[in-house]
Amino acid sequence: MTDFNELPAHVWPRNASRQEDGVVTVAEVPLPDLAEEFQTPLYVFDEDDFRSRCQDMARAFGGPDHVHYASKAFISKKVVQWVNEEGLCLDAAALNELKIALAAEFPAARITAHGNNKDEEYLRLCVDAGVGHVVIDNEQELEELNRIAGEAGVVQPVMIRVKPGVDAHTHEFIATSHEDQKFGISLATGAAFAAAKRCLEVNNLHLSGLHCHVGSQVFNAEGFKLAAERVLELYRQIHTELGVDLAELDLGGGFGIPYMPYEEALNIDRVAQDMLRAVDQTAEELDIKAPFLLVEPGRSLVAGSAVTVYRVGTVKDVETGKADLPVRRYISIDGGMSDNIRPALYGSEYDVRLVNRFSDGEMVPSRIVGFHCESGDILLEEGELPDDIQPGDLLAFAATGGYQYMMSSRYNGAVRPAVVATRVGNTKPMLRRETIEDLLSLEVD
Ligand SMILES: Cc1ncc(COP(=O)(O)O)c(C=O)c1O
Repeated sequence: MTDFNELPAHVWPRNASRQEDGVVTVAEVPLPDLAEEFQTPLYVFDEDDFRSRCQDMARAFGGPDHVHYASKAFISKKVVQWVNEEGLCLDAAALNELKIALAAEFPAARITAHGNNKDEEYLRLCVDAGVGHVVIDNEQELEELNRIAGEAGVVQPVMIRVKPGVDAHTHEFIATSHEDQKFGISLATGAAFAAAKRCLEVNNLHLSGLHCHVGSQVFNAEGFKLAAERVLELYRQIHTELGVDLAELDLGGGFGIPYMPYEEALNIDRVAQDMLRAVDQTAEELDIKAPFLLVEPGRSLVAGSAVTVYRVGTVKDVETGKADLPVRRYISIDGGMSDNIRPALYGSEYDVRLVNRFSDGEMVPSRIVGFHCESGDILLEEGELPDDIQPGDLLAFAATGGYQYMMSSRYNGAVRPAVVATRVGNTKPMLRRETIEDLLSLEVD
């Protein structure tokens, strides 16, 4: 038996295991049975894994009301219901995420609405539904929201998204708090102070705090601490110059997760303690009241809870023309960049295992590619996989619960896969697989 048959526990869902016959189960449900019933590709969520991560996060930060699940990572009505049952709050990053959350009867007062380009419909829905916070991204939105809230005769609680100018140690495309990017209002130029002042002047907004988000896949907790220190400087300025103590501080999401066996999970308890301590200490040094800390994790709650199962099609050995690697095996699967754009977009890596049986093959240089008409449609670029993988086998990629289904496309007529959840031997379908009829139904004759 090779290591390839072992599932790295910190990367795979907490209730995944390999049975004695070599079949991998998630919450006691065999993946090959699910692949048969729901077809492949297939996203399989371990419901108790997700719930336990919510509980861990809530405990680390001192209660579920400190934690907003960033639903952009994955949203469906069932996940929204789980978040609600676990007592967490929820972030929507766009109008339709808000609509899905409301359709799942998530209490509006526990929703925070984000977005750098919220249109009238989005802002109006926030106000009419009574969402707990709108995070104002820019001065134009501030005026518009005040007008809409005024027309509705309500005072809308808001936070202001600021750019703390902290460079999170992450991939360039997803670092979001440096100055030259689209989100938020600058601290450094004084624009954030001016926006806070304006919020406090107008009649129909209630400024409850400031928000920032330093990036995604952040492993160095220093970034969060530094951001907290910088943003709290503005709390002090608002306290001193405007005589107002802001009640809340939202430090966003971005906690890193391991995708590969050699990566370590972030110690959430330690990071939470560091963040809470940094906020308390800084507030004390600045002689202001410590605000209530909010965080918005997405990936770290949901990504590790799911795997994607694919069926192997063509297997071919390709002569590379390279002296150091004369032959590479190309394993084609029935999904690809349409259900997982992250490798093509960010060069992301994943842990892949055979899930329908044991393997005792020799490890050979291999690439896993999708079916799309694009040579960059590669899900695993520099892999080593057993040489006994055959057409019809099932491969599963771990930690695929976040930013995959949500970023999926219909490229080459791909239909979006089904999404199911497993829990102690039971399976709940969450989203059905699209069909060609779904695609054709968009055609206007
Ligand atoms: C404002 C905001 N909050 C929370 C998140 C969630 O980040 P993550 O899924 O990395 O925790 C994001 C992601 O980009 C974000 O932009």
